[in-house]
Amino acid sequence: KARLAILLSGRGSNMLSLVQATQTGILKDLAEVAVVFSNKPEAPGLELAAAQGCPVASLPSQGRKREAFDAEAAVLLQQYQPDFVVLAGYMRILSPAFIQPFAGRILNIHPADTHQHQGLHAYEWAFDNKLTETKITVHLVDEGLDTGPILAQESVDLRGAETLAEVERRGLAVEHQLYAQTLAELIKTKQNVMSSAAETSRSEN
Ligand code: GAR
Repeated sequence: KARLAILLSGRGSNMLSLVQATQTGILKDLAEVAVVFSNKPEAPGLELAAAQGCPVASLPSQGRKREAFDAEAAVLLQQYQPDFVVLAGYMRILSPAFIQPFAGRILNIHPADTHQHQGLHAYEWAFDNKLTETKITVHLVDEGLDTGPILAQESVDLRGAETLAEVERRGLAVEHQLYAQTLAELIKTKQNVMSSAAETSRSEN
């Protein structure tokens, strides 16, 4: 099974839906949670993860220089040998010190089309601009802010959504489903690539 390190800074609803997907859902035979990590030791999501029986770890980022914190966080996470680092409301821009050890294996979910809106408050942006539709994006993380290659996008119908809470409710429902599904597809693709590589090397020997 693929080992997931799930990173969060707050509530943890995406983390919870991923954990549940590994327990009884679409990720059941594909992935396991190696650790749930936070840069905020007091994040509600950490307690939620512990209550699900997940290993948890934290390292306070407050007052730390970005590169030094990221290097330390990367060393800590490497001890859990993750195949994928899954950002789930991890509200930090990652520096090369963090990205390099996990290059090409870091995923993020962003509650907008990353070509249209980057950074924080994407649901407020959709609501304030009275969008009738927004998009949820799952992408690989590079060194920019919400700029990495897109793995999957799904629309959220916002027609008739009259409050910000309703916009968020509809968006999060899509987030929770899309993140687990995208990870499942990614893991299956990786497994297929590895088994056909093994097949090739067997037939060459
Ligand atoms: C989610 O809506 C996630 O897409 C967003 O933060 C929220 C975290 O909620 N992430 C970003 O805005 C990243 N730019 P959660 O803690 O309940 O998963």
